Amino acid sequence: MKKVHIKSYGCQMNVYDGQRMADVLGQEGYVETETPEDADLVLLNTCHIRERASHKVYTELGKLRDLKRERRAQGRETQLVVAGCVAQAEGAEIQRRQPAVDLVVGPQTYHRLPELLRQARGGRVVDTELPPEDKFGHLPAPKPAAILARGVTAFVTVQEGCDKFCAFCVVPYTRGAEFSRPVAQVLAEVARLAEAGVRDVTLLGQNVNAYHGEGPDGRVWTLARLMHRIAEVPGIARIRYTTSHPRDMDDELIAAHRDLPQLMPFLHLPVQAGADRTLAAMNRKHTADEYRRLIARIREARPDIALSSDFIVGFPGETDADFEETMRLIADVRFASAYSFKYSPRPGTPAAEIAAQLPAAVMDERLYRLQALVEEHRQDFNRAMVGRTVEVLLERAGRHPGQLAGKTPYMQAVQIESDSHAIGDRVMVAIERAGSNSLFGRPVRRELAA
Ligand code: 5AD
Ligand code: SF4
Repeated sequence: MKKVHIKSYGCQMNVYDGQRMADVLGQEGYVETETPEDADLVLLNTCHIRERASHKVYTELGKLRDLKRERRAQGRETQLVVAGCVAQAEGAEIQRRQPAVDLVVGPQTYHRLPELLRQARGGRVVDTELPPEDKFGHLPAPKPAAILARGVTAFVTVQEGCDKFCAFCVVPYTRGAEFSRPVAQVLAEVARLAEAGVRDVTLLGQNVNAYHGEGPDGRVWTLARLMHRIAEVPGIARIRYTTSHPRDMDDELIAAHRDLPQLMPFLHLPVQAGADRTLAAMNRKHTADEYRRLIARIREARPDIALSSDFIVGFPGETDADFEETMRLIADVRFASAYSFKYSPRPGTPAAEIAAQLPAAVMDERLYRLQALVEEHRQDFNRAMVGRTVEVLLERAGRHPGQLAGKTPYMQAVQIESDSHAIGDRVMVAIERAGSNSLFGRPVRRELAA
């Protein structure tokens, strides 16, 4: 039996792509293995978003070259594949730096993996074509057993690429122009997942709320409309979507947070920075106050919504005063969680051309302060759950025997003790304690729940 080891870095879309690549290779007779040592095919599904993410690839490839040699000495061949966004951005350069790589394949062409692997047996191959034919139309559907093995939550890419061109970001270059999958194709995939036992779907896109897919009626459908249809798929109890751009939060989508019970009250809506000067330099196309007003409207529609964001500190030209504006925005909004990063110049992006990059020490200090504030809010948000009863979708076995772990509608991890529940159940849980990364609670009968 041929074995493949797939390692995905970066965002959730890469996790999804990794699974789809496993599905493609499954058709070719490959089974997945957790360990590269016994793999005939090792595939790194890479991320280019920040310098550190990109560098990791070469470190990993160095180790894999050694592994390939060792295996060859034992008479076993190994094919090395670099996929994902570094593949797209660097192409043949990857094989120049690491000749042991057999194949470089970008995020838009991985449906051709079987054919490319065959070609690569005769010599190194690079395929980084951008928006070719619709790759989704060529991908095999996952088998129910494979879906089940991945759990009761699943990602579904509905949109890919980005036309926003934030000054810091490589995505428009690595993932290409915006593309939305047709409604019927998305619905068929969701129905298949639900039939196999998936209860919670997260709709993915680099700019997912800009979704404008072709509907069965021949018209263009919005994300809100798509989600209303997905909510009708039997078995689907929870819907989420990520990542969104503030400019694309339209009234219909905000209303869905009020009207669609399956749409979970958690929204990742990156703002990146809090000073208008910085936002303009980043080409974000909105001001800090516009973002504040947008949040107010979303909270009006869904008062209990938990918000999350991404932040970049130390964007070129960001002054101390600008950074304080970011801190003020965080204090105003009080995010339930956030990801934050030091600015990292990316080749080919406009911001990388700006000469005045900030000293590392300044970025370190800002990042530290920002993360401390966000952490305070996150802990407050979690502690506020104690004494409340919330629905938890059980997703996996807990840390200890007899424990099950799941998520609240607000994306918080919860551990419960129970021998009468199973993974996939939705249980009402009385939250008794908030740890630093998990809540702990006791299942209560649904009738008792408020
Ligand atoms: N430097 C630092 N962070 C970045 N991000 C995107 N590009 C860069 C960069 N050049 C962050 C943004 C984005 C998240 C996915 O990664 O915050 O929302
Ligand atoms: Fe990284 Fe962006 Fe590519 Fe996702 S789309 S893997 S975040 S560069």
